[in-house]
Amino acid sequence: MIGRMAAPEELRGLMRHWPHGVSVLTVDYEGDRMGVTVSSLVSLSLDPPLVGVSIGKEASCYELLRRAGTWAVSLLGGEQRELAQRFASGRPPIVHWDGVGVHEGQLAPLIDGAVGWIEARTRAEHDAGDHTFFIGDVVAIEHGPAKSALMYRESTYHRL
Ligand SMILES: Cc1cc2nc3c(=O)[nH]c(=O)nc-3n(C[C@H](O)[C@H](O)[C@H](O)COP(=O)(O)O)c2cc1C
Repeated sequence: MIGRMAAPEELRGLMRHWPHGVSVLTVDYEGDRMGVTVSSLVSLSLDPPLVGVSIGKEASCYELLRRAGTWAVSLLGGEQRELAQRFASGRPPIVHWDGVGVHEGQLAPLIDGAVGWIEARTRAEHDAGDHTFFIGDVVAIEHGPAKSALMYRESTYHRL
C-alpha cells in the first residue's frame, strides 16, 4: 500500500535477525561518566574519517552526550558479553563502572581488552525519530588485544 508506514515491531522483528557488532559508547563530561551498549556504530566516511551512532532520546547518557560533544566507542571483544549486558542494563552509572577495567582516552574512558577504540568529536546531530543520530569527526583510533568480536543477533550474543 502506497504511503503506509511499517509498524515499529515490523522493523524490530526483521532487524533482530540481522547481526550487529556490539560496542560501548562512553562519555566523560567534567568527570561525570556514562557508558551505554550500542549496535548502531557505523563508519561513514574515510576522508575525513567520520563515524555515526544512533542514541535513544530516552537513554540515560543522552543529555550528557549532547553536553560533552565528545565520545568514544570501545569495540567489544568476543569474550566481553558481560560488559555489554552491564552497559545495557539501565542501572545507575556507579554500578556500571564498578570493577570495569578502563584506561583514559583523550576524550573519554576506554574499556580495556576491546578489539579497538574510536574517539570522536560530534560534528552534527540529526533528529532520527525517537533517536538522535550523532556524526563524529574521528580524533583517535587505537587497536586493542581482543582476537574476536562480539555480535548480537536474536537477543543472543555471539563470538565471531
Ligand atoms: C546489543 C544492544 C545494542 C544496543 N544498541 C543501542 C543503540 O545503538 N542505541 C541506543 O540508544 N541504545 C541501544 N541499546 C540500548 C541501550 O544499551 C540501553 O539498554 C538503553 O539505553 C537503556 O538503558 P539506560 O536507561 O541506561 O539508557 C542497545 C542494547 C543492546 C543490548
